[in-house]
Amino acid sequence: MKPTVLVTRAVFPEVIELLSQHFDVESNQVDEVYGEDELKRRLQGKVGLFSNPTDGVSADVIRSVPGLKAVCNMAVGYNNIDVAAATEAGILVTNTPDVLNETTADLGWALLMAAARRVTESEHYLRAGLWKKWSYDGFLGADIHGSTVGVIGMGRIGQAIARRSIGFDMQVVYHNRSRLTPEQEAYANHARYLGKEELLRTADHVVLVLPYSPASHHTIGAAELALMKPTATLVNIARGGIVDDAALIDALKRGTIAAAGIDVFENEPAFNPGFLELKNVALTPHIGSASRPTRMAMATTAARNLIAALSGQVPPNLLNPEARQP
Ligand code: GLV
Repeated sequence: MKPTVLVTRAVFPEVIELLSQHFDVESNQVDEVYGEDELKRRLQGKVGLFSNPTDGVSADVIRSVPGLKAVCNMAVGYNNIDVAAATEAGILVTNTPDVLNETTADLGWALLMAAARRVTESEHYLRAGLWKKWSYDGFLGADIHGSTVGVIGMGRIGQAIARRSIGFDMQVVYHNRSRLTPEQEAYANHARYLGKEELLRTADHVVLVLPYSPASHHTIGAAELALMKPTATLVNIARGGIVDDAALIDALKRGTIAAAGIDVFENEPAFNPGFLELKNVALTPHIGSASRPTRMAMATTAARNLIAALSGQVPPNLLNPEARQP
């Protein structure tokens, strides 16, 4: 008999096919989002979970499924999973790093350009039929080329963002838990390490790419926004909760900073409605990794992790090696 696994959200049929070669798969191609009780109910009797960032895999969920052996998340971020509880229960947890670095960096740039150059705002104006004449000062924005970008969270995606700045003749400053090696800094357009406050004062534009954890909650709030330049753009492609969204909305209203490009929100998809009242924002619904090849690579990576984990191998992207039984 094949082991039984749950795939919580709709995914490419090819990936269900791959999983079905190894497992009895309960899939959800109608794409209902399971709440905690439904997730617990559906997990009963399963040994593997192919999860998504929309699933709250809490300690409670984990403890309610005694036979569960692996949780393989289709995302690089895994703050939706209580990894400590999984480790304690001997459950392997994996994510999908690397395959989404370049695509997510692309979206960071798209939001930076759209917000700083007021692309979204001017398109709304055009679509509303308000464009009656060209004017010398219509939709003046901030320059990207020649400016200094500040990257907070200089992991693989942050470094991919920094590398893209070479073509725009830009300077890069960064802040991170640990400094990069001199070689990594050189490759990332000679990025210069700064403390967070100095970075916020120095950068013309700031891009957030750090993982969410209780320690990074509200990394950017009212005090941090007040340090930024009034001409600056803030981009959040990291996770909801890294930014205090209410404080950001207030700063954008007051002109504390010029603009923002936001892909991730506190309490998404039920984001703060104050964003919709603002013109100086470019907003996208958590699509950082959303290109077909990248989402396919993420789904395949998560499936391969699950196949390895349930066949006694070390999954390629194991996050909690200490969970493996000796
Ligand atoms: C998406 O947000 C991810 O973490 O991969």
